[in-house]
Amino acid sequence: MFTPEPDTLKKERRLAITWGISFLILFPCLILLGLLMRLGQGEMMKLLLANFYAFMTLHGLGMAGLLFSISFAAIWYLISTRYTRLNLRLGYFIFFTIILGFAGLTIGTLMGKFGAGWYMLYPLPFKDPTWFTWSIKTSIISLIVLGIAWLTGILYLLYALIKKQNGFINLWRAPLNEKGERNDIPPIVFITSISFIAAIPGFIVGIIIMCIYLIQSFEHVLSFNAVLLNNMTFFFGHTLSTVTLYCSMGWLYTLLPEFTARSWETNKALRYSWYVSLFLLLFSYGQHLFMNFVYPLSAHHAGLWAAYLSTVPVTVITIYGVYTQLYHSKIKWGIIPLLFLLGTAGLAIGGFVALLNSYEAFNKILHNTLWVPAHFHTYTLMGIVLFVLGFLFYLFSSKNQQHTDKLAKTGFWIFLAGGYGFILMFYLGGFNSIPRSYARYTGTGFKTLHDTAVTLSKVSVGFIVLILVGLVFMYFSLFSRLLKKK
Ligand code: HEM
Repeated sequence: MFTPEPDTLKKERRLAITWGISFLILFPCLILLGLLMRLGQGEMMKLLLANFYAFMTLHGLGMAGLLFSISFAAIWYLISTRYTRLNLRLGYFIFFTIILGFAGLTIGTLMGKFGAGWYMLYPLPFKDPTWFTWSIKTSIISLIVLGIAWLTGILYLLYALIKKQNGFINLWRAPLNEKGERNDIPPIVFITSISFIAAIPGFIVGIIIMCIYLIQSFEHVLSFNAVLLNNMTFFFGHTLSTVTLYCSMGWLYTLLPEFTARSWETNKALRYSWYVSLFLLLFSYGQHLFMNFVYPLSAHHAGLWAAYLSTVPVTVITIYGVYTQLYHSKIKWGIIPLLFLLGTAGLAIGGFVALLNSYEAFNKILHNTLWVPAHFHTYTLMGIVLFVLGFLFYLFSSKNQQHTDKLAKTGFWIFLAGGYGFILMFYLGGFNSIPRSYARYTGTGFKTLHDTAVTLSKVSVGFIVLILVGLVFMYFSLFSRLLKKK
């Protein structure tokens, strides 16, 4: 068992709190961009087209990057305080590099009006841009900076774990002890290694795409294969979001047992489910490519099956694990287990919708409608974000503060009502064939479609306000815990 010195523990905690506070500042700012988009779509305020797309790009890239960054930070904290010593200076270097990347992206989008959307499919950023040329370069360089920071962090954490375990293979299978028995690998080590191994090709591909874009931004006569870049983009985007989700499961497996007083072991069932997911994750991005009609049908079927099979084992084993943790456990329902339980529910609902999405017949109809934002907002906002808040409550509280807090719980229920209401409006939009990424629904050309879309946007504004109110309550509770905790 690794026990860090009190001084190291304090310093690691300080780093994690720095990450946590940065998250708590940036998260509502990005929500505000979402609110402005919905106000514009609901015709409750005039939003210039250029502003809408700049907001959408910063919101999408910012949220995806922010969630991955805080997930990485949580994994860093748990490993450095429970498993092995990590290099704090490198931790701060990664933190500041990421902040630099975010700052560049904010300048590129809000000042330069770069608005090619979060996956900026080739050749969109360069084709008749309405944004300043400098904003393309600024945004791309910022994304490269972010990619390098994340990749460095991932490689370093993997290296530290491999060193601690005396070899790569021992990350997944503990060596025999003197009695000839195998000790269990802590789930956090196992899940981190699986997630980060999957993330490496994803991030390398992401950095390569951005380097290609950078070259193109300097040399306009160049032309690259759009289908190849389309594949690479979705491979990167799909891997980033899935790995973020996996990381959050890492601390769910680690922290929930502290509340149920039951261990959560890395048994065979858990190991094999995660192996299957690791393998299939690398192919399941194919579910985003059903519209690429130039592909042979077999490629679409391969994507479909990889998507089906990669979601199921990890989701099922995690839901089953949470159930066995909680069943007759006499747990005290403080804010942290509540966030973990409802986060798992968000994950299950989002996972089920992902299964529907990856079915070709559904995909043909729902593709590029608001159904797609509905799906990814479910597992991010009502899954990963709840897990992140659970982790932050854990980090900011002392042991005796973890069970009671009316303020936090009130905020939590308001957030939950607002969150599901907001997402429901996206789902209803999908059912009504309302297209995604439309700044103004007058552009759809159909009066009934326009009216329904505007009404749903207006209603969702109310739910977004509820989300923000819920967050205010939770923030009060979080910061009062932080100030009280010595
Ligand atoms: C209360 C919180 C949030 C609000 C109000 C919000 C609002 C919005 C809105 C209005 C859109 C545009 C939808 C469209 O018409 O196509 C959008 C897109 C998007 N949101 Fe959110 N969102 C929230 C949380 C999140 C979270 C937690 C994530 C995490 C990843 C996220 C990621 C995205 C992405 C990736 C897009 C697509 C951007 C693009 O297509 O370029 N959002 N969001």
